[in-house]
Amino acid sequence: MNKLEPLYSGKAKSVYLTDDVDKLILHFRNDTSAFDGEKMEKLERKGEVNNRFNAFIMQKLEEAGVPTHFEKLLSAEESLVKRLEMMPVECVVRNIAAGSLCKRLGVQEGMDLSPPTFEFFLKNDALHDPMINEYHIRAFGWATDEQITAMQNLTFTVNDVLKKLFLDAGLLLVDYKLEFGDFHGQTVLGDEFTPDGCRLWDSETRKKLDKDRFRQGLGGVVEAYEEVAHRLGVPLS
Ligand code: TMP
Ligand code: ASP
Repeated sequence: MNKLEPLYSGKAKSVYLTDDVDKLILHFRNDTSAFDGEKMEKLERKGEVNNRFNAFIMQKLEEAGVPTHFEKLLSAEESLVKRLEMMPVECVVRNIAAGSLCKRLGVQEGMDLSPPTFEFFLKNDALHDPMINEYHIRAFGWATDEQITAMQNLTFTVNDVLKKLFLDAGLLLVDYKLEFGDFHGQTVLGDEFTPDGCRLWDSETRKKLDKDRFRQGLGGVVEAYEEVAHRLGVPLS
């Protein structure tokens, strides 16, 4: 398997073609972005920490029966994945109120959400990822009914698996964002699961251990990601 030319470069990852049409290489970079790319910085070691973190989580999800694009780690900052046809929507589940939900509904950060909420957002930085619903997805053909149902079911399965995994490590899974794609007719989890795309709080102190440290200028961003990785038993280098 050979690495070929770049296919796409996002805010934190680059994607390369390979000589297998069904496989891509993801390169997790140190670039860190927030507010739809308005705030950008390079944070040392973040690419490697996120690559290894993502590999660990994707393997746990596969073991629990969630189909993912993850194939294998290739190097410190690179992984081999299946090439999916991505749906341009983001699936967000929230167990505790934080972030845009608090702004939108005027609720206090930290409020327990039981049952958890599910939201779709359109993946579009220029429009600031607006919230959408199933009707928009169907009307614009972003996914079929079957794919919408699969995304919702898989996103909640991920919640069951990861809430427990994190709680056993003394962490609250506050919320997270997933992206899915089609692989030869199957809806498969793509993109990444790292502290860049979820909120994780210490279960005792509620200290933030995720990208909110970067968004809010709290410092110690990669150190927090490493702390989470260490607690979960993710092998780092
Ligand atoms: P929000 O509170 O900003 O709506 O985000 C909810 C969760 O989803 C939070 O863990 C961050 C994650 N997220 C992303 O990583 N990227 C995105 O573009 C969006 C909309 C959310
Ligand atoms: N991932 C998005 C960005 O980089 C949104 C965020 O995390 O704040 O701009």
